[in-house]
Amino acid sequence: MSGPNTNYDPVEVSALDPANVDAAVQEALTAIAGAGSLDDLKAVRIAHQGEKSPLALANREIGALPPSAKAEAGKRVGQARGRVGQAIAARQAELEAERDERILVEERVDVTLPAVRRAAGARHPIELVSQRLADAFVGMGWEVAEGPELESEWLNFDALNLGPDHPARQMQDTFFLDPVDSGLVLRTQTSPVQIRTMLEKEPPIYVVAPGKVFRTDDLDATHTPVFHQIECLAIDKGLTMAHLRGALDAFVRIMFGEETRTRVRASYFPFTEPSMETDFVCFACHGTGHDESGAQCRSCGGSGWIELGGSGMVNRKVLRACGIDPDVYSGFAFGLGIERALMLRHGVQGMHEMVEGDIRFSQQFGMEV
Ligand code: DAH
Repeated sequence: MSGPNTNYDPVEVSALDPANVDAAVQEALTAIAGAGSLDDLKAVRIAHQGEKSPLALANREIGALPPSAKAEAGKRVGQARGRVGQAIAARQAELEAERDERILVEERVDVTLPAVRRAAGARHPIELVSQRLADAFVGMGWEVAEGPELESEWLNFDALNLGPDHPARQMQDTFFLDPVDSGLVLRTQTSPVQIRTMLEKEPPIYVVAPGKVFRTDDLDATHTPVFHQIECLAIDKGLTMAHLRGALDAFVRIMFGEETRTRVRASYFPFTEPSMETDFVCFACHGTGHDESGAQCRSCGGSGWIELGGSGMVNRKVLRACGIDPDVYSGFAFGLGIERALMLRHGVQGMHEMVEGDIRFSQQFGMEV
């Protein structure tokens, strides 16, 4: 900025020269009109309205003018800055309006479009029933026990009194793991969880163990190579078959309703002695063996009873192998397949429906409980 100078001729200060001021305004207006975005306009504003812009410099020169020249120069520069300021404000408004318009188009939501529907999942009925049964037993003070699906052959068979030559060992078509001498199998039953529990805990023991089991069956209407069992084991002083029946009855009532009666038949399992099979009265024909039209009941095949599963008093040999004194403690155990019971309960036509994982199947039952 020049110092005060009483002999000053404004025409000689080039920044204040009217032609230069006009040129600065024209240049600014051209730049403003050419600003295609708000960012561009910001740069234009700094260049033409900022502290270092020609008009700001011109404005600063006014202070150095003699009083007689100040008014005219001030008016000229003031008007020039005013025009630039207005043009920037107008362009700013235009560009903001354009931006808002664009955002409205870009972010437009058509509320009339059909929504992308995400089907609510549903838990598989096998899972639900297993949990319902386990929960009910937990409610009676039992604990849930678990074991691995990849089980040692010893726990799956030998410890359950199924020695290497035992015929029942061949009856359960087993998946062996490579190499065969690894001693590992995919467990064929949940019964090894009994052994694990007895080896781990001191009596009294009351456990329920739901889980997957595996056998080399082909998938057909009534078989599947992967299925589910639920195993119960109780070891305490003075347990008898009466307690076993009580537990089985409780189980069946949870699964098929309060009114369901059971019956037991003598049977054989190497890890129980005595052993029995339990049947429950057919929930479809209530034991009559025929439906309302007199035709043979399809759920029980006309017998009035449906097989539930195996059970018995834990074999003394098994107790001893697990370090439990059979003269002090006795126990009972039972193990049931879940799939078959569920198929009967819900009238599921074939095993395929059970295992294929179609959400529409699960949804029919998945909200239950
Ligand atoms: N584990 C037997 C099976 O898969 C079923 C079974 C029978 C379980 C008797 C038991 C039992 O706990 O006591 O065929």
